[in-house]
Amino acid sequence: MRLPLIAGNWKMNGLRAEATALASEIRTALDRTPAEGVDVLICPPFLALAPVQEALAGSSIRLGAQDVHWEAKGAYTGEVSTAMLREVGCVFVIVGHSERRHIMGETNEHVNRKVKAAVAQGLTPIVCVGELLEERSMGDTYNVIERQIRRAFDGMPAADVARTVIAYEPVWAIGTGKTATPHQAQEAHRFIRKLVAKIAGPEVGEGTRILYGGSVKPENAKELMAQADIDGALVGGASLNAESFVRMVRYRE
Ligand code: PGA
Repeated sequence: MRLPLIAGNWKMNGLRAEATALASEIRTALDRTPAEGVDVLICPPFLALAPVQEALAGSSIRLGAQDVHWEAKGAYTGEVSTAMLREVGCVFVIVGHSERRHIMGETNEHVNRKVKAAVAQGLTPIVCVGELLEERSMGDTYNVIERQIRRAFDGMPAADVARTVIAYEPVWAIGTGKTATPHQAQEAHRFIRKLVAKIAGPEVGEGTRILYGGSVKPENAKELMAQADIDGALVGGASLNAESFVRMVRYRE
């Protein structure tokens, strides 16, 4: 049984006061009426992690970061380590988000190092993969996804692959209002699950949570979540409003 995970990726939004207010609002709503059978995660910007951790103290909402460096410490100006993230209460970290790949030039090799470091240090990486519109138009979607996943997990034992979450986020659907159809998303998720089974064995394939991301909103969350291989959502824009985020957490209702 894969417990659904609804994750908010706040990206570069929210000064500390705004971030704590948003986290507190989400927390209050979920404290009042808890959502059963779903994991809830929020991923604020680095500098808001500590105050948001305080705002969430004692709640079941999990905290995650949006990126991490693979080295434990040292001369890596501007970078943040796994231990620093754990110190402020992070249990998840997003790795290889398409904005990091396409705007910041992150490669599959960087993603691989980050995934390994996160797992080794007890953080659950949410490994993001997804094709560009040109790649989909050329019929290259599954080759791209396969390459990204194989390289993200390169050199990892099955037991470590089992400690990751995957997010399928077609790049053309991120922040564009264009969601993949539930059918398109399901096909890609099915492909990913079979691929994980090839890489790490059928049990890991069956147990791995695969989130969909790309213009998820309260209006489409339920239909996406109804697909057999969609185990949650990684939500950007629609996670910045407490009411809309909580509606997605309550997608079943
Ligand atoms: P979006 O972003 O929901 O705003 O499309 C999703 C993501 O980038 O994780």
